[in-house]
Amino acid sequence: MRDEASIALQMLAERGADPHIEPMTSPAPAVPVRLAVTRLALTDFRGYASARLAVDERSVVLTGANGAGKTNLLEAISFLAPGRGLRRAKLAEIDRRVPPARPGPAAPGAWAVAATVATPKGPVQIGTGRDAESDSGERRLLRVDGAVARSQAALAEHVSLVWLTPQMDRLFLEGSAPRRRFLDRLVYGFDPAHAARVGGYEQAMRERARLLRDGPADPAWLDALEQRMAEHGVAVAAARREVTARLDAVCREPHGPFPGAVLALTGEVERSLEQLPALAAEGELKRRLAAARRLDGESGTTLVGPHRGDLAVRHAGTGMAAAECSTGEQKALLVAVLLAQARLQAEQRGAAPVMLLDEVTAHLDAGRRAALFAELVRLGVQAWLTGTEPALFAGLERHGQFFGVADGTIAPR
Ligand SMILES: Nc1ncnc2c1ncn2[C@@H]1O[C@H](COP(=O)(O)OP(=O)(O)OP(=O)(O)O)[C@@H](O)[C@H]1O
Ligand SMILES: [Mg+2]
Repeated sequence: MRDEASIALQMLAERGADPHIEPMTSPAPAVPVRLAVTRLALTDFRGYASARLAVDERSVVLTGANGAGKTNLLEAISFLAPGRGLRRAKLAEIDRRVPPARPGPAAPGAWAVAATVATPKGPVQIGTGRDAESDSGERRLLRVDGAVARSQAALAEHVSLVWLTPQMDRLFLEGSAPRRRFLDRLVYGFDPAHAARVGGYEQAMRERARLLRDGPADPAWLDALEQRMAEHGVAVAAARREVTARLDAVCREPHGPFPGAVLALTGEVERSLEQLPALAAEGELKRRLAAARRLDGESGTTLVGPHRGDLAVRHAGTGMAAAECSTGEQKALLVAVLLAQARLQAEQRGAAPVMLLDEVTAHLDAGRRAALFAELVRLGVQAWLTGTEPALFAGLERHGQFFGVADGTIAPR
């Protein structure tokens, strides 16, 4: 592998923290942070030709004007988790584009991100980026501690990441797929194998859909795919159910200014798991898939399976469905769920997830902002927060590291 991205990955994996950016010094947080990104290096990632950042385990506040590159930086970190990152962009879209009016000295190559992550088991080096050599140009290269990882699911073994973005202000108002992805990220935190199951289920589902559409409609082949869908699918639904129930149990009470939330999972596979043991639920899903072949082939969709399930959230105080709550209440509900996740994960797994909070202050009043920051510090969460003004992060000064972002560079404030 000598393509540009893999060379960049290798280089980045070998490079230590940049000596020019020293972690800022101030008192250590009240609770030791056990999971944190401590070094980050971006190459040809959106507006960043080459950016390096070394931080300690406290939260990081990134401020700068609109378009400065704050969300781009969070997106780069989101590639330390399985999946397509927080924008779900095509990988090729992320390669740095140079405006024709401002050609630079070197033409950009495929993007790469390298990071050191402090974990309860010690530091882990992660390198990832677009494999420009792959047929589609859309494959992600991944190295963990220098070794090539075959599947992105390997990331969930080391890093637990959740995020909140301005797009998620509409999480309760639109289709169910983003809610399932939101829930899956929460599940990874308790059950890293979930990422591989979700991947296995989706792959078998895509292959079955392709067979039903293009043939050959080989019954033995379809049978094998449906068996895989049933096994992975029931495991996916069971893990989602379990985590939803655990979170629901700790979310119902309001927490400071954050409302209580009632969480439930809906869907046929999820319901059948209420009544049947897992093995019987698998048999049931397999039967239903086999029976739906003709309809699925005609409609080009898959009518049954956990990809139809949904996370339902209610405001515990008012009883209103999240979709009927005010914008600020919806945001507060999401923050409440994430904080509950952090509390549970810190308690049960010894480390809260890293949180990417893009413009989280937007719909929060000063009291809620202060309560959020205090809780992040108390739980030992390393959060990466963005905003246009440092003043929005009053209260985090001693517990955070402030950087200014402008024009492809990141500098301590
Ligand atoms: N592939 C790319 N190559 C070069 N620049 C890009 C690429 N993709 C996006 N950009 C640019 O990156 C800039 C920074 O975007 P980003 O979303 O990170 O800004 P931001 O600091 O979060 O701003 P806001 O406060 O408005 O959210 C934008 O001007 C965008 O046009
Ligand atoms: Mg932004």
